[in-house]
Amino acid sequence: MKFASKNILDMESLSVDEINMVLDTADSMKEISERPVKKVPTLRGKTVVLFFYEPSTRTRASFDIAAKRLSADSLSLSASSSSMVKGETLVDTVRNLEAMHPDVIVIRHPAAGAPHLLARMVKSAIINAGDGMHAHPTQSLLDLMTVRESKGKIAGLRIAIIGDIAHSRVARSNCIGFTKMGADVVLAGPPTMIPKGVEALGASVTYSLDDAIGGADVIMMLRIQKERQKHFLFSTEREYAMVYGLTKDRLKNAPKDVLIMHPGPINRGVEIASDVADGPYSLILEQVTNGVAVRMALLYLVAGGLRDADAD
Ligand code: CP
Repeated sequence: MKFASKNILDMESLSVDEINMVLDTADSMKEISERPVKKVPTLRGKTVVLFFYEPSTRTRASFDIAAKRLSADSLSLSASSSSMVKGETLVDTVRNLEAMHPDVIVIRHPAAGAPHLLARMVKSAIINAGDGMHAHPTQSLLDLMTVRESKGKIAGLRIAIIGDIAHSRVARSNCIGFTKMGADVVLAGPPTMIPKGVEALGASVTYSLDDAIGGADVIMMLRIQKERQKHFLFSTEREYAMVYGLTKDRLKNAPKDVLIMHPGPINRGVEIASDVADGPYSLILEQVTNGVAVRMALLYLVAGGLRDADAD
């Protein structure tokens, strides 16, 4: 089977077969990172540009490491170190980068739809590393990989996603990704942080943490995205932690084999207690490890010549 997608823009655009292909490829890529020499020649001669307009630790570092492990040349740019500070637009910036013939441009941008706009304008493959509150498909793919690896399946599982759903591109992408792969997704958080009509994504909604985690196979906690909120949507962080924070005590309401996930960065003592984040059921660092494997898989699939020549 060929990988048909030229770009990785959102989870809606990927078919179930393509998602399975990414996860299978990532499974085989993971072993490369465990070798004494963590490098293969697969993407030698390819160029990957990482353009991040918003801060990032995990996504940016893992794309850079992924490109290097596949022997691609990678170049990392941030908005503050680019000529955008002199007034150059996003479109002009990317047109100028395109003139240097990169094979893949990985972009994180605060505006929803920015990667989609660029994908219509340039020949390079575009990978969305997070656009505003809209989508974070590579995070969703690494989360799917982590769940499949740990539980042996995705279909039929109950995935509870808890926190600031309204401002979370991870919640949105995971809602679409997990339901597409046959899981049941329940979203939970304060009413002020759950957008109206979110059930249209295929999830159910509750405002009770205990209802969400009862019967959950996986609990995914999300931080409060203060940088995207015009007003704080809960009275105090302390009160938020008391009602929606995941502690060892609250975990007693969850099944014994529940797994805990978080895309990071975590705010210890707010949405998740330290002993839960660092506890035996936590997959948080495994998610980060799998982030490298998934991004190696994506770079390989969009730049490695496996795409169907007739596909867009
Ligand atoms: N999960 C995630 O996107 O983390 P970063 O913002 O550090 O990349």
